[in-house]
Amino acid sequence: MTGNGLEAVHLSKSYTIDARQITVLDDVSIKAHAGEFLVIEGKSGSGKSTLLSLLSGLDRPDSGRVVLAGTDITGLSEDALAPFRNRTMGYIFQSFHLVPSLTALENIMFPAELNGDARAAAKALELLRCVDLEHRMNNFPHQLSGGEKQRVGICRALVNRPLIVFADEPTGNLDSVNGDIILQLLLELRREFNSTLVMATHSREISAGADQVVRLSDGRIQAPDRRTQE
Ligand SMILES: Nc1ncnc2c1ncn2[C@@H]1O[C@H](COP(=O)(O)OP(=O)(O)OP(=O)(O)O)[C@@H](O)[C@H]1O
Ligand SMILES: [Mg+2]
Repeated sequence: MTGNGLEAVHLSKSYTIDARQITVLDDVSIKAHAGEFLVIEGKSGSGKSTLLSLLSGLDRPDSGRVVLAGTDITGLSEDALAPFRNRTMGYIFQSFHLVPSLTALENIMFPAELNGDARAAAKALELLRCVDLEHRMNNFPHQLSGGEKQRVGICRALVNRPLIVFADEPTGNLDSVNGDIILQLLLELRREFNSTLVMATHSREISAGADQVVRLSDGRIQAPDRRTQE
């Protein structure tokens, strides 16, 4: 596959709990074109977070492979994977995962600094302005509301202008007004950067606006609902 999309083939993942093996993902294949908005649906425990962590290289599959922006990440060593992830993708966690000892601005700058970007601070500030949080730049995560923390999390995910953005129920912890603000922001920033957006969500409303929806059930994907041309 070429371009900035994502392709995963024959992914399987099991966990062993109390000497019992539980298959969470069983031969899952998935494809998203560059710039596409892909939603992963499924009830709680169906494996959405597990799938996102395999697609993004946070975790490794038992079998199968993942190609991101033309690179087969399954074959990369840990040492090669970390900088590749930092350059290529942004990850928005359901529970924010901000660094408690860093301010809002410093949290956003962090991935850019890792990349050796001399403009890390300027870029972080520009993003904070986009999400109307400039006045909170010097606050620490514990001084921010849930919606504010998630906006900081989004800025951090976008600071390196990633080709692919993964979002694990980014509105799950927010009330509907804040949830809507976050969704609109993600879609707007996706349009601006033309990045591929892969989102796990329970929300039918969000799914309705996606280019492609896949539904996980019993470790497998039900027939994908693709709304754009192959
Ligand atoms: N590290 C782990 N060790 C053992 N079991 C795990 C682990 N991570 C996930 N699981 C199990 O895998 C299954 C899928 O979990 P996952 O978090 O991917 O579901 P989910 O669809 O994201 O659920 P939710 O909507 O509640 O976030 C669950 O049964 C869970 O208990
Ligand atoms: Mg989950």
